[in-house]
Order: sequence, then structure tokens, then C-alpha cells
Amino acid sequence: MSTEKKQRVVVEASSGLRGEFALPGDKSISHRSALFAAIGEGRSEIRNYSTAQDCQSTLDCLEALGVAITRSPALVTVEGVGLHGLRATDGMLDAGNSGSTIRMLSGILAGQPFTTRITGDESIQRRPMKRVIDPLVRMGARIEAREGNFAPLTIAGGGLKAIDYTPPVASAQVKSCVLLAGLFAEGTTIVREKTPTRNHTEVMLRECGAAFSRTEDAEGAAMAVVGGQPLRALGDYTVAGDLSSAAFFVGAALITPNSEIRLRHIGINPSRLALIEVLRQMGGEVEIVDERLAHGEPVADLVARTSVLRGDHDLSGAVIANLIDEIPILAVIATQLEGVLTIREARELRVKESDRIRAIVDNLRQLGVEVEEFEDGLRLCGRQTLRGGVIDSCGDHRIAMSFAVAGLIATGATRIEGAEAASVSLPEFYQLIAGMGATVREEA
Ligand code: S3P
Repeated sequence: MSTEKKQRVVVEASSGLRGEFALPGDKSISHRSALFAAIGEGRSEIRNYSTAQDCQSTLDCLEALGVAITRSPALVTVEGVGLHGLRATDGMLDAGNSGSTIRMLSGILAGQPFTTRITGDESIQRRPMKRVIDPLVRMGARIEAREGNFAPLTIAGGGLKAIDYTPPVASAQVKSCVLLAGLFAEGTTIVREKTPTRNHTEVMLRECGAAFSRTEDAEGAAMAVVGGQPLRALGDYTVAGDLSSAAFFVGAALITPNSEIRLRHIGINPSRLALIEVLRQMGGEVEIVDERLAHGEPVADLVARTSVLRGDHDLSGAVIANLIDEIPILAVIATQLEGVLTIREARELRVKESDRIRAIVDNLRQLGVEVEEFEDGLRLCGRQTLRGGVIDSCGDHRIAMSFAVAGLIATGATRIEGAEAASVSLPEFYQLIAGMGATVREEA
């Protein structure tokens, strides 16, 4: 984010939101589609690839590794080089703000018979990488990192051996990193998880014809991938719309009076659906319409309208991993709940693009909301009146977008400082909110 011009966006209270539109492709699926397409055999034509800066970072890194990619707004074409076709690069790979890029690509880099250096922006350089370094080193990669934990990473890959690994944190990025490395390892790599996390990597392994299996018992799930097998290209692939981006529009429609919106072709993978389930438990009118399957991923249209939200809701344990990215918008929505929202065991939020517990609590207080902060979460009573104020995005896309939504129900104007952060996942965000009838403007 540091290279971009700082932007201040002002949002005014809205008297009603309307609209029907599709959203760019899911960020998580887009990253994976690019990575799998690159190491697959043959051409992949990816439609509705995410417009997020993060997903462009993944393409930039792959290009630097010798993968031929063409990008247009409608179509990304990737010429797969196969498992052994990536080329060494002298320069430092730049993952930008993207944890998914640096963590998942590290799994592939660990499998290469050459050394690669990879880093990202200031936020990335503060985020923990030991969670991927540890398993990759156990597989045989040699990795140097600042203080053994932080980017820049220097990854000397090759000669990997399969491992049987249980990540110490519930993380789809770590799971995916190890499974991707497993594609290059000798033997069968197993990743075990007690708490389910998003399973897009597993779905795509199947799409690409990998020798992959998943079993489940009382202890949890075990994912196993056999190394050294060639992968099919994705061919003609359309990425489902981003549910985590949809969350901001759904949230906006629920809490803004006189609102109804329809979002087309959104991914509704059960490993991502907890926010929608929680909102429905609160009484939120969110309909899942015309459910279908595309490339192994369930998709549907989402219809959301103004709702009365009720009840005391305590969220902790397994559900947290399923809605981890949606907690900022959920906290904003909960300011209108006739009840209390408590979130615990969400310590991971402190090591996201920003310390999200801090960022949520500080910014809610800026708008006059009373909220209690815990080391691992927060608690707030609903039915609070928000008054416009100045929000600091902390360079975090989800904080910027969540508080722009808060601005729709706050009295007076809400100023989002560092509003450009939204581009990390949804460059179109402010335009789309304005298109629904909200008053949104950029301030010099
Ligand atoms: C992601 C996994 C989650 C999520 C991130 C995207 C993915 O991170 O927060 O936005 O695409 O696998 P963790 O795996 O670190 O929890």
C-alpha cells in the first residue's frame, strides 16, 4: 500500500440501497487458479479472475518465474509450464500485501531446484511466516528469514520428502502451502486439520486430476497428496464471485433502511459460509437463490434486505476460522443487533493485514460505539447510534470497506483515511456502493 497515493473517501448516511450485480472472482480461488494453472500442463483460460491487487501480485510473481500470462479484464490466460518448468529469477519476488501469495507460493518455491527470494509490503514483513517455514524445512527446503519468522524469505528448494503434518494454527494458507509442496515431494504428504478451514485447494487439486484424497475421523480431516504426478491445466475456468467481498454489500443491505440487493454468481462454499449462517441466526434476511455447482465449487445468487437483527451471539471455536475475514463487517453489523455479540478465540485477527481487533475497536469508538476489547476478540451491545467520524483504514482493505458500510448508518459524514486500501481486494468497492444509491465521494 505504501507506494499508492493516500485517498480519503467520505460516506454519508443512506436512506436505502438497491441493486443487482455480479462481483469479481473470489480472491482465494483466483490465487489458487493462477498457481495451479502455472504448474499444470497446457493452457488455462481463467474468467472472472479477481481484480484484487493481491491476485495481480500472484500473477506478477508467476510471470517473474517464467510463466507466460496474458491479462485482460475479461480473461487471464496462463500457459502452464508443468511441475518442472518454472525458471529461477534473480530479482526479489514481491507479494505486495498478499499473505496468500507469499505463503502458498512458498510451497511451490520449496519444490524448485533453485533459490528464490520473496518479500512483500510493510504489512507482509510484519506477518508470521514461521508457520510455513517450519513444515517446508521439515520437508527438506532451506529457508532463511528475518528472525526466522519474517519476510524477506530466501527459499532454496528441491529434494523434498513427504511429511505428515498437523499445522499448529487453523490456516488454509498453511494447509495449502504444504499440499502444494507435497506435489513436488517424494512420497505422500499428509496435512491434518482439527478445525476445518477453506478447502479451495482440495477442490482444485481434484479439478486438476491430482492424486489426492481426503478422509475424516473423530480427530478431524486428513488430506493426502502424492508427489511427482503431473497436473492437468484448468482449461476453461470461471472463478465464482467473492463471498468475502459480497459480505460488505450484504451487511450494508441488512442494516440500511429500505434496502434490497441481489448479488449474482457468488461462491457459497460451506467452508466460507459461516457469516451468512450467523446473520440468518440473527434474523437477517439473506436468501441463497439458484444454487449450482461450477468447477467443484458451489455458487448461487444472494438476495439481502433490511432486517431486524436479534439475540445474544457468542462466537468462538471452529466457527471462527470459517468467518475470520468477515469479523470486521460482522462487528459493524452487530452495532445494530438487538442483543450482544461476543467474539473469542479469534487471536489470529491480530496478525492479519493489520491488528484487526485493535483496528475494529479503535474505529468503532471513533464512531461513538461502546465496545470491549479482549486479547482474543471483542464484545459489543447492539442498538447503538453511530455518529460520523474519522476512520483510519490502517492500510487494511477489510477495515476500509467495513467502516465505509458503517458510514451508511452513521449520522453526518464518515471519513475513511487510507480508503485506497480497498483495492487490495476490491478496487470497484466505492463505485459499487455508490451504484446502490449511497452518497460516496473522494475528498482532496
Ligand atoms: C486465505 C486464508 C485465510 C484468510 C485469507 C485467505 C486463503 O488466512 O484470512 O484472507 O486464501 O487460504 P489463514 O489461512 O492465514 O487463516
